[in-house]
Amino acid sequence: MPRMACRVEPPPPDHPPTPAAPLPEPLAWVNAGLDRLARHDLLRTRRVRSGRQGREVDLDGRRLVNFGANDYLGYAGDVRLVKAASRAACAEGFGAGASPLVSGHGATHAALERAIARFLDVDAALVFPSGFAANAATIAALVGPGDLICSDARNHASIIDGCRLSRATVAVYPHRDLAALRGLLQSAGPGRRLIVTDSLFSMDGTVAPLADLCDLAGRHGAMLLVDEAHATGVFGDRGSGLVEAHGCAAGVHVRVGTLSKALGAAGGFVAGHRLLVQWLEHSARAWIFSTAHPAAVAGGALRAIELVAEEPQRRRDLLLAAATLRDRLARAGLGMPAEVTQIIPVVAGAAAAAVSLGARLAAAGLFVPAIRPPSVPEGGSLVRVSLSWLHTAEDLARLGVALEEHARGH
Ligand SMILES: Cc1ncc(COP(=O)(O)O)c(C=O)c1O
Repeated sequence: MPRMACRVEPPPPDHPPTPAAPLPEPLAWVNAGLDRLARHDLLRTRRVRSGRQGREVDLDGRRLVNFGANDYLGYAGDVRLVKAASRAACAEGFGAGASPLVSGHGATHAALERAIARFLDVDAALVFPSGFAANAATIAALVGPGDLICSDARNHASIIDGCRLSRATVAVYPHRDLAALRGLLQSAGPGRRLIVTDSLFSMDGTVAPLADLCDLAGRHGAMLLVDEAHATGVFGDRGSGLVEAHGCAAGVHVRVGTLSKALGAAGGFVAGHRLLVQWLEHSARAWIFSTAHPAAVAGGALRAIELVAEEPQRRRDLLLAAATLRDRLARAGLGMPAEVTQIIPVVAGAAAAAVSLGARLAAAGLFVPAIRPPSVPEGGSLVRVSLSWLHTAEDLARLGVALEEHARGH
């Protein structure tokens, strides 16, 4: 892996935190809220990362093998993206200066949108400041009061918030439960219908039954939106995601993805029919009323899409490593999702149990973050292993040993 010759400035001096001043009375409830989180082991603290993420990560001064990033293909710290980002920044400046409809849509953004459309083999794509914004704004632009959204119970928070924002009727069906979804569609009123699902569920490592969802959408005149945030770059011959891998492109009307995970950049996208994209340009509020992201980000993302085409071996290696680790953990008695993906959850149950398992793994030099409510349901806390192409066989073996010990109750 080529290293970039960057001159690294020392970080600014760290001042010890000053004790918090008492909250003014209208904000006093915040104290109680934080106390409640602490009592339920749900208080989060940020760790400070030094330097680049990659196979390893330096968190709060400790160097750990990094099983906690969504950098599945190892592009987040790749010098080729950094160079492409620098070139775009040199050409277009740093800030985009305005929203895309005003003057923020630069030549690099336009090239990125064309590249995404080619990558997904669709007419057109629209790049959003984040994947979160892409989901939230798109759902709210597709349906409104009087319409029905059917949403998988394990969908990402950005989908949940998009559903709320739309003011449509939201029917949440149990995770991947097609019979329940069919029932909802059969009793739907006359308004528009939208089925919305993650393709790879980010916390469970499970995969949506995409072909069946296409079939149900087709039978019931529903739009189908699939969020490929964690699948983009990893699945399919071209690497465009699970919609491609399952051969379902024709049945999925709205494809959402993110540039922030396997593509190592930032930002989200929506792709599909040219007129759908044109509609979003007039109705997706988080796109219309938000500054376009910096050209540097678009330049880096564009290079990442090229690399996904040039380096298919990375996704093959990644999924092979995932299959090997998954089988090893299943043999150790740990419950594993049926599908082989680069996301491997190890369920601990209570929030405190997940935190303590994460701490034990960190003591063994492995960063595997604990995931607690509201990211997962109550009692379903876990540590989430995110594999990256950068991991070595030795990293995977160390993790396997540590989790086997956990499975044996040591
Ligand atoms: C399934 C899913 N959709 C959307 C997003 C949001 O993407 P972004 O981080 O680019 O805002 C995430 C982020 O974790 C996600 O897991």
